[in-house]
Amino acid sequence: MRPSVNRWPARVDVLQSASGLLLVLFIWGHMFFESSILLGHDAMYLVAKAFEGQPLLSEPHPELVSIAGGTVLMLIALHALLALRKFPATWRQYRELHGHLGRMRHWDSTLWYVQVITGFFLFFLAAAHLSQMMLQPEDIGPYASADRIWSDHYWLLYAPLLLTVHLHAAIGVYRLAMKWGPFSAATTDRWRGRARLLMVSALAFFLCLGTASLVTYMRLGAEHAPYKGERYTPSWERE
Ligand code: HEM
Repeated sequence: MRPSVNRWPARVDVLQSASGLLLVLFIWGHMFFESSILLGHDAMYLVAKAFEGQPLLSEPHPELVSIAGGTVLMLIALHALLALRKFPATWRQYRELHGHLGRMRHWDSTLWYVQVITGFFLFFLAAAHLSQMMLQPEDIGPYASADRIWSDHYWLLYAPLLLTVHLHAAIGVYRLAMKWGPFSAATTDRWRGRARLLMVSALAFFLCLGTASLVTYMRLGAEHAPYKGERYTPSWERE
């Protein structure tokens, strides 16, 4: 009789990779939509209204944003739960891991450790941002977002969130490529170089895009501070 094989560890690994990939695609897409402010107030207004379903439903439905936020939050919780099983569990395990990393100086093991640290902080930072988006979905727009970022000091949340989420996403994609990529032992090293280039380029690109839009929201928020609370009227609705 063939010995029975436990397939669950492999299935859980696939689920963790798949949920991670979905989250990376979400955050990269999110950055393009959210940075529409770089194209002007009207562009950001249109994107916000599109996510409220206005083009299809004729009326804006901010609850659609809450539903999207809840779905992303559940995906993050699943991804984190599956990742937890690989985290060091005790202070002693952390000390031993530090010792090994220091002695080995192995680049990919250090990157894995960066994933553990950024993943830990992301859980709190992302939950804070998502709960705001889910509870006040109607407060998204050129003035509402800029007021929140500047007058309500949300840039203090977004600056560390920007750095941690893009480190986590870029390293995650590199690790996915190395884990599931169709390489033979002979070609792994060549592909490793390419995957690292992709990782560094994605990180640099999204950090630049995110910083540019965050600074734009801050500048707009500072200008709009005396009128805080006033909503944006798109150019085609003004007389
Ligand atoms: C459906 C869920 C989400 C919605 C509707 C949403 C929406 C937004 C909006 C409208 C902004 C502009 C600032 C504001 O209005 O406060 C923003 C900024 C930001 N969001 Fe999200 N977000 C979502 C999920 C996430 C998640 C899961 C992450 C990361 C884990 C994230 C990371 C960020 C970052 C880093 C910024 C600042 C970007 C910059 O520097 O320009 N968001 N988000």
